[in-house]
Amino acid sequence: MALKITVIGTGYLGATHAAAMAELGFEVLGLDIDPAKIEKLGRAEVPMYEPGLEELLRKHVAGFEGSTGRLRFTTSMEEVAEFGDVHFICVNTPQKHGEYACDMSYVDGAVAALAPLLRRPALVVGKSTVPVGSAARLAEQLRRLAPAGEEVELAWNPEFLREGFAVKDTLHPDRIVVGVAGERAEKVLREVYATPIGEGSPFVVTDYPTAELVKTAANSFLATKISFINAMAEVCEAADGDVAKLAEAIGHDERIGKKFLRAGIGFGGGCLPKDIRAFMARAGELGADQALTFLREVDSINMRRRGHMVELARESVGGGFLGRRVAVLGATFKPDSDDVRDSPALNVAGQIHLQGGQVTVYDPKGMANAREVFPTLAYAATALDACRGAHVVLHLTEWAEFRALDPAALGAVVAERRILDGRNALDAAAWRGAGWSFRAMGRPRA
Ligand code: UGA
Repeated sequence: MALKITVIGTGYLGATHAAAMAELGFEVLGLDIDPAKIEKLGRAEVPMYEPGLEELLRKHVAGFEGSTGRLRFTTSMEEVAEFGDVHFICVNTPQKHGEYACDMSYVDGAVAALAPLLRRPALVVGKSTVPVGSAARLAEQLRRLAPAGEEVELAWNPEFLREGFAVKDTLHPDRIVVGVAGERAEKVLREVYATPIGEGSPFVVTDYPTAELVKTAANSFLATKISFINAMAEVCEAADGDVAKLAEAIGHDERIGKKFLRAGIGFGGGCLPKDIRAFMARAGELGADQALTFLREVDSINMRRRGHMVELARESVGGGFLGRRVAVLGATFKPDSDDVRDSPALNVAGQIHLQGGQVTVYDPKGMANAREVFPTLAYAATALDACRGAHVVLHLTEWAEFRALDPAALGAVVAERRILDGRNALDAAAWRGAGWSFRAMGRPRA
């Protein structure tokens, strides 16, 4: 009989995972403690902007004409425990308030609620990003609390999806990593992922701690790569070099590679910043803090970029923001997402606003979330409207829409033709050709 799958937590990770499991042919039951979210998902409405996800939900959520009906949602943990052979834990693990460490309360809460209801054999699979050591602790807890005892097993299966590519990354992962304590769990997970394995996705089997560490190591490496190129941008600015050319040139070395070498205002979002901090905190608890002190530098290079953008903007408008209009293009932490969590763009907009600038923000998808975080900023309905009367335009999230802007048309509405590219993504020659003063981070002024 085909495995029945449940997904606990229907945020970014969970909603996508649930839809993807249905796409792979399984019967899926998704659970969330938030009834409003469940109601929305039951109507195949996605609580966030993620390309392709709504289509996938419509294809599988029960109740739609022509849908496979394989995907349902509930708020009942009883129902989940009864239904599933495999339970994926997809709740989030944010940074604790006022500390670097990871807040495990949602994961712990999910396991504590599920375990006493597990009366039949099941595999519980953690996907959330957790501090190393969590899986061993949770496995012990499951054994102790589940009525089915030894028939309940735990595996750790970290997720590597990127926002904006969540559906593709989940259906066609570039690797599948499973931390298991026995062969039975591995066998079940090979069955769950038979389709992507058949298509060639590497399947890496490890113990619990290694699987947990793979995730934090991968995000730490990516963060380090971005901060490395941003450190080079600082040196390029001091030496009159061009970081974009430098990145292109070193990227030709296959060992280095071209990806994740875009200098700019740095990384943000719900993952990279909090993951490197939680990793440092956990290494400290384990007595291995020295091994990760470099991540402190990675973090501070990254945070410095935001301040540097504010300085460039201040300098460009004559040394002070008072009475100056600043247009901000982009509010999300990256394009093709509506996520503004720890967004460098919004942080820069907020800092300038707090320093007396009149900031108007436009973002293709992130306006509602940005308004919630920063209600005191002004928001415009289009890029053109945001730029009306501006003394400087800041390009802070590299949406395709901004690359398609016509410098001449925008030039007609601004007070001063000045633009700063915080993402090194605009065509400098086109802007300069239309009479703009154009400056990008880590690149020569001229
Ligand atoms: C990141 C990882 O890339 C995923 O593999 C991982 O699964 C995910 O975190 C997670 O832990 O859940 P994501 O947060 O969606 O994914 O975003 P990224 O595409 O990694 O971008 C992160 C930030 O780095 C963005 O603010 C982006 O603008 C910035 N960035 C990226 C740069 O500044 N320069 C670059 O060259 C690349």
